[in-house]
Amino acid sequence: MCGIVGYIGNQKAHPILIKGLLNLEYRGYDSAGIAVIDNGNICVKKDKGRVENLLNIEGINDLKGTIGIAHTRWATHGKPSKENSHPHSDNSKNFAVVHNGIIENYNELREFLKNKGYNFISQTDTEIIPNLIHYYYSQNPKTNTEIDFLKAVKSAVDDLKGSYAIQVICKDYPDEIIVVRKDSPLVIGKGNGENFIASDIPAVLSYTKDFYLLDDNEYGVIYRNVVHFFDSSLLEHNKAIKTIDWDSSSAEKCGFEDYMLKEIYEQPTAIRETVSSYLRIEEKCNFESLNFTKEYLSKIDKIYIIACGTAMHAGLVGKSAIEKLCRIPVTVDIASEFRYRDPIVDSNTLCIFISQSGETADTIAALKLSKSFGAKTLAISNVIGSSITREADYTIYTHAGPEIAVASTKAYTSQVVLMNILAIYFAEILEKSNKNDLDNLKREIFDLPSKIEKTLDDSEEIKDFAKKVYTQKDMFFIGRGMDYNTSLEGSLKLKEISYIHSEAYPAGELKHGPIALIENGVTVIGVLTDEHLTQKSISNLQEVITRGARTLVITNQVLTNINFDYVINIPCTNPLLSSIIAIVPLQLFSYYISKFKGLDVDKPRNLAKSVTVE
Ligand code: F6R
Repeated sequence: MCGIVGYIGNQKAHPILIKGLLNLEYRGYDSAGIAVIDNGNICVKKDKGRVENLLNIEGINDLKGTIGIAHTRWATHGKPSKENSHPHSDNSKNFAVVHNGIIENYNELREFLKNKGYNFISQTDTEIIPNLIHYYYSQNPKTNTEIDFLKAVKSAVDDLKGSYAIQVICKDYPDEIIVVRKDSPLVIGKGNGENFIASDIPAVLSYTKDFYLLDDNEYGVIYRNVVHFFDSSLLEHNKAIKTIDWDSSSAEKCGFEDYMLKEIYEQPTAIRETVSSYLRIEEKCNFESLNFTKEYLSKIDKIYIIACGTAMHAGLVGKSAIEKLCRIPVTVDIASEFRYRDPIVDSNTLCIFISQSGETADTIAALKLSKSFGAKTLAISNVIGSSITREADYTIYTHAGPEIAVASTKAYTSQVVLMNILAIYFAEILEKSNKNDLDNLKREIFDLPSKIEKTLDDSEEIKDFAKKVYTQKDMFFIGRGMDYNTSLEGSLKLKEISYIHSEAYPAGELKHGPIALIENGVTVIGVLTDEHLTQKSISNLQEVITRGARTLVITNQVLTNINFDYVINIPCTNPLLSSIIAIVPLQLFSYYISKFKGLDVDKPRNLAKSVTVE
């Protein structure tokens, strides 16, 4: 989705803005642009296509201005084109604005402004914002007195309905940038005599680790040496800085060909970091940010786990862990469905929200809805201070480090491990599970990083199989129980980055319809890690082999008398954790297929890293 960068300091702004935009490329975009105050004028350079193209726009390298705003656009209103790219200006070219989000009442505001004589060049919802600011700036329609930059921005923002993170510069105020947000992320990085603005921390992580996290309906007025904060009535207040412990190299490729491959190989570290934050063998699990009591947890009659995409798949594993260890019924729901289904939620429901970015619009909306029903809300996120963590009653973090590739890998395995630790934490409070069983599970969790490292050593075998099947049009993933959850995630990875149609089915369900699709040469991938279910899934694989399917099996079982085309052996672990190991070969499989097809692994078509619109 769209990305925002801003700079005010003593260096030339445009190289910093462009570098920031390049750091945000992973979000997915179709156009890019910058606006710099240069020699008393606002100079806008923008076009559709890659950020690098900006460097070829005439005059860009002559810009000397030290204040500017920048944007990568992911088209919503109007096709990708130069006119629709941000920044947008008002008719008088006094203001320039970049905006993430969607203005729902833009048609109405556009008509209003047209009636006042304003013209529009683009089809975007954003272009109304600089014009509306100009309208209020040039005259206050209510009192007919002049108002200043900040008041004009506030008056315009008061008219907007929808979601937004907005940056504005004004020709008459060459030493300040104004920002405001609602339901769309924005952070301000504090430097020494300079300040940075970004929709995502990695954009400016190489300049600073100190950030102000802007709240909903809060204004920031950013100067070179200071930032002032105001609430929605323009009352000024102080704001604390958060220091982010991410290393700037963690947002770089460090010798790997792609971010996705790097992030697959970072999984042992991501899990070590997450586990060591919360788990001790000889002690009870400790989440400092949670204060759940036996009395409260005993009252809970159901748990909802709500998320989207890969995070939802991590939720499915969480359901198995909580139900097995705590015997509390858990429903996993897709956030965009949950919010419109009139869910049965009350003060005896605990709602858990999983979101790597912490900015997914549907997940945040589902959280707000659950709160309004009186449920306690717990967010699991990878990004400190992200929107979801600020809405939830409680937050716990995965420690995966920045995930740049659009396809989620290390965040998934970190979420799964954290869901297991959370289930142990609940079980210890509730005194539901046998202590030995919990201790054994904890030991298995500590062993995960080395087992993933061992699995990564077999990447050549996976590459070999990927080479044989990368031209296929359809593939199927099957498994039972936890292996079905892994199949869902494996299938999503393949779709996302290889554009091969794929489906995941519970192995026993094939014969109820989908087996009609199996014909000579179709690839079926079986995940077999549960000793109680392996023989049953083998029978289902035999049914597809009989119909001509080519098979790849991922297993930790000793299989005898088998006729599968490929078998990848992985280390054994507790069934609640099996997805963390079994998904690794499937991530690599999708990765190599995408590479063999010559696709852009890190930035697959049509997809965005954080989905901040509904
Ligand atoms: C898949 C993927 C997406 C995200 C989903 C939720 O690889 O990355 O399916 O999992 O968009 O994103 P977050 O976790 O940021 O809420």
